[in-house]
Amino acid sequence: MDSTKEIFGITRRQFVTSSAAVLATSGFAHEANAVTALARQPSEQGKSGPGAGRGPFRVIIDTDPGVDDALALLLAMRSPELKIEAITPVAGNVPLDLTLPNALRMVEIAGRTDIPVAAGARAPLVRRLVTATYAHGENGLGGAVFPEPTTKPVATPAADLIRQIVRKYPGEVTLITIGPLTNIASALNSDPELASMVRGLVMMGGSLSGGNITPAAEFNVYVDPEAARIVFQSGIPVTMVGLDVTRRTSLTDDHVRALEAAQNPVSQAAAKIGRNAINHNREGGYLVGPNMHDSLAVAGFLDPAILKLQDYYIDVETTGELTAGETLGYSPVAGDLRRRPGMEKDATNMPIRGSAPTLASTKTSPVLRDKFVPNTKVAVEVDSARFFDLLIGRLSGSK
Ligand code: BDR
Ligand code: CA
Repeated sequence: MDSTKEIFGITRRQFVTSSAAVLATSGFAHEANAVTALARQPSEQGKSGPGAGRGPFRVIIDTDPGVDDALALLLAMRSPELKIEAITPVAGNVPLDLTLPNALRMVEIAGRTDIPVAAGARAPLVRRLVTATYAHGENGLGGAVFPEPTTKPVATPAADLIRQIVRKYPGEVTLITIGPLTNIASALNSDPELASMVRGLVMMGGSLSGGNITPAAEFNVYVDPEAARIVFQSGIPVTMVGLDVTRRTSLTDDHVRALEAAQNPVSQAAAKIGRNAINHNREGGYLVGPNMHDSLAVAGFLDPAILKLQDYYIDVETTGELTAGETLGYSPVAGDLRRRPGMEKDATNMPIRGSAPTLASTKTSPVLRDKFVPNTKVAVEVDSARFFDLLIGRLSGSK
């Protein structure tokens, strides 16, 4: 295939280049690797410990608060490694009329009203909104009640603000997405050059081991699969922190007690949300607390030792009657496709196929890619204890 031929709107050459850039530019300092040093900031020299000395990294947090979003926002705002350029709420766990004020509440609680909060999409690109009040309560915060925020969102819509910020700092901004990807896809759709200017995208979303809203799909991708597909195919180096790892982050009574013991507004608010969410789960008959899905995406960016990542080509099912929103992970070194040591390179010649052709269509299976080229680093293992040390430590003010 001609290396410059268009595949899903980008050329193969761009695609290969951007995939290689995953290693070079991700905020995650990937395992010992020659290019890791390129990603390091000068301020990292001579420091150690979780996140110590990393960054500051310019980030935009796209979110749908959401119990775990709320704690993820508080974690991010308590982390000096991050220069949060904007927070962009989107409809997801609850409608935008709730996710927007919930985000503003978190900004006020953290004393970070300097961060612009911009209203995002009210609905997915082409689908009706499905919410998750069953998990997050009617108010999105597990029933934890906080005063109405007095801070106002900025006038610029989220997709426009994302575009403006990325263009202002080309190659510097990492998008941390912890909700449906509607805002990001809208920004990319409005500006074909934008993807090449994004440093990386760290997503809580997707799964290679089954879904949580359907057997196939994880909630954030399920809500707006078309948007997720645009993101995965954009050429942006993506890190996918999916259910494969976030299912191992159940919040416990002990965590909440540690937050309650710390006497600061952030830990008290986090404890209140956590306590309500645990009770909400118990009332629903669940034995374990809510998972801190979104905080894990933020924490993994702050401290790369929390997650182990593996290269995949990820695509999203958008047409399935039962499976829309499923993330498919192609890898030449996973499952039945494992090769003898030393032969992994040959395996990259594996073509990436779609479904078998129907009688009405062509004779051969569609080949989406003629060889394996990763577009995503997928989190496949998590150090849950290290994660909670960081989360509770930052929220309580002890780390
Ligand atoms: C994701 O869906 C939402 O309910 C959570 O906030 C998280 O972002 C988990 O599937
Ligand atoms: Ca979320």
